[in-house]
Order: sequence, then C-alpha cells, then structure tokens
Amino acid sequence: MSRVLLGVSGGIAAYKACELVRLLTRRGHEVRVMMTAGAVEFVTPLTLQTLSGHPVRSELFAPGEESQISHIELADWADVVVLAPATANLIASLAQGLANDLVTTVCLATRAAVLVAPAMNVNMLQHPATQANLATLQERGVQRIGPDRGDLACGWTGEGRMVDPEVIVAATERLMRPAVLAEEAVLITAGPTEEPLDPVRVLSNRSSGKMGFALADEAAKRGAEVILIAGPVSLPTPIGVRRIDVRTAEEMRSAVFAEFEHATVVIKTAAVADYRAADTVDQKIKRESADTLEIKLVRNPDILREISAAKGERTVVGFAAETENVLANARDKLKRKGCDLIVVNDVSRADIGFDVDQNEVTIVGPTAEETTRVPLSSKVEIAAAILDRIIQVRKT
Ligand code: C5P
Repeated sequence: MSRVLLGVSGGIAAYKACELVRLLTRRGHEVRVMMTAGAVEFVTPLTLQTLSGHPVRSELFAPGEESQISHIELADWADVVVLAPATANLIASLAQGLANDLVTTVCLATRAAVLVAPAMNVNMLQHPATQANLATLQERGVQRIGPDRGDLACGWTGEGRMVDPEVIVAATERLMRPAVLAEEAVLITAGPTEEPLDPVRVLSNRSSGKMGFALADEAAKRGAEVILIAGPVSLPTPIGVRRIDVRTAEEMRSAVFAEFEHATVVIKTAAVADYRAADTVDQKIKRESADTLEIKLVRNPDILREISAAKGERTVVGFAAETENVLANARDKLKRKGCDLIVVNDVSRADIGFDVDQNEVTIVGPTAEETTRVPLSSKVEIAAAILDRIIQVRKT
C-alpha cells in the first residue's frame, strides 16, 4: 500500500480521475486529491473527496484548508504524485518550474516520483512547445504514460487521449516497485544493426528498438545497473541507463563482449543482421547498364549463441520473431542457441511486433510448464512481465 497524491488538471478527461481514484483505493492505496482551478470546472471536489475519503484541495492559499494539511506536508506525504489528466498548460508550468497554484507548488516541493498522464487535443500535443516541455520533464526523471490515439472529446481523432485509468494504476504501481534488481547488472541489446554496402547504402531492418529500451527503463526502475547497447535508433536514453551506440553486428559483438564479464543478465532484443556484405566497397556503387546487381553476403557472428556458450551463472534471454509454428520454432531456437529463455512474437500479425507500441509475446522456457503467454499489452507491460520472469529464474 502506498500514498498516492493525485493532481487533476482542467481537461475533459478529468472525469476519468474519478475512476482512477476508485481503482487506486480498491487496490489498497491511500489517495489524496489536489485539483487545479480548471479541474474544478469539470468535476466537483465533492465527488473526488467522497471517492478518496479525504478532503480535496484546490487552492494554494486557503486558511481553512491549510489548517488541515499544508501544501508542503502534502508534497512530503506522497510516495508517488500522479498528474491525470495532465493538460498542456500543467505540463508547460511544470517544465518552467512554476509554482503559481497548489498543484504546481506541490510538484516543485515534492521529492516523490512524479507520473504524468497527458490529455489534450492532438494539435496541442504535437505543438513543438508541448513536445519540448515533455522532453524537459523526461530529462528530469518525470515518468510519462500515454497519451493514446483515438477519438478526442474536441472532435479530432489522433494522439491525445488520456490512457485508461487501469493503465495509469499499473504505471503508478511500477513506480512503487522496490529495487529488486539492485544486485544485478543487466546488459541489453536493442534496435537493428546497419551493415554498409557502400559509403551511402546499408542493409538493415525495421526494428525500432522500443522493446529493448522499455526493458532497459524497467530494469533501471527496479534498481539494476543497466548497460544498453543500441543499434541506430531514434529513442531517448532511459533515465539511469548507460548507453553504448553501435552500428554493425561486428560492433555490437565487440561492445557486448567488452561488457559481458561484468553482466549478470543479458537480454538480446536486437534484430541483428544475419548477413553483411562480403566486400566493403569504399566508393559508391554506380548504377550500371546491367539490370541486375549481385551483392555477395557473408554470415554475421551469432552473438546470442556465443554468449550462451560462455554464460556460466548468467541468465541469457534471446528474442525471436516467427511467422509459423511459433512455439515449436522458439523451443528449437532455445536449444540451438543455448540460452535460458526465448521471448517470441508472431510477426505475421500486423498489429504487433516491429515498430508498434503494443506486443503480444510468449516467454518460452525449456519445458511447457516454464512457458508463459503475455497477452496483448504495451511494450512497457511486456518488459515488466519479462523481468518478473527473469527474477524467478535468478532465484532458482
Ligand atoms: O537466429 P535469430 O536471428 O532468429 O535469433 C534471434 C535472437 O538471436 C535475438 O535474441 C537476437 O538478438 C540474437 N541474434 C544474435 N546475433 C545474430 C542474430 C541474432 O545475437 N547474428
């Protein structure tokens, strides 16, 4: 059970704050609510007071309210501060470090983890000012969940919908996680590799790196030392993670082996190119008159297999993308590669897998009993499930 301080700001999604309070209290958390002046226009403090079982505050200077619990006491009381919905205005105020109402003042004063659940019109979200403000908050370690895509209350369709209260509850509880991985050094590879064909052309694949970055973020939140070896991707480095950027499979292999000694867990989410050009061409390949061009490829090293052979006490996890006989192929791969777990996804489905935020995976162990399915969830949830499983393996 934890103390959750919920800050509600003035958007239509404020009505969902009621459900959020109910879910949090039902799960045994103590919830106190603070509201911006705008939020009070959308839902009454009485509703949130009734649901949370505590008086709701909305003003910074209110003699009656301050006599109960001051804004600093409120900031100190919280284990987690959740801002849901977080409007563009609230996000901008936080990015500026303003303290011009109760919610912003408490956010400035608190040392608790802060989670924002943005909700706004798609154009407001995409505005460079909002994007810059969100990036500023992220740099400062503020956690963010959503927003989702969908129909917006303003009539537009697009990104900007606040994520569902259940998703906010899960994200809030993740922030409360104890540092269960404090003893582990987790080495993660992520993204594609890029194999040069000539100075301007490359052989690569569509891996976005999202899964590996989500795992790195989650492992760091659970107290692990995290080393993230990333192929060419455009994703921000999760807080508290040491990142090493590489391009080719060979570079990835060197980086992995440089860090391997020190690691206790290795997770290979990277989509390593299986082949690279046999000859590195120093000059750009010219368009010749011939209609066909042959490029000879040679096999890249299988990093996962090499690591597994040398793993000792380490736990090694591989990933697999399959289009048919998903489970049988994955179990086969587990044996062939010699790793402890294989996380497999069915890439024949368009809605999951590469470059999307959601995924559905099966965590395959050596036997059927050691195999678990994780239903369609965000990559953040999947990362949590994979780490839960790794923790189990580490304990046995
Ligand atoms: O053999 P396949 O590419 O299907 O296996 C996927 C798993 O093996 C992933 O975990 C990937 O990171 C790893 N791999 C590797 N080195 C390669 C190819 C794949 O480590 N050259």
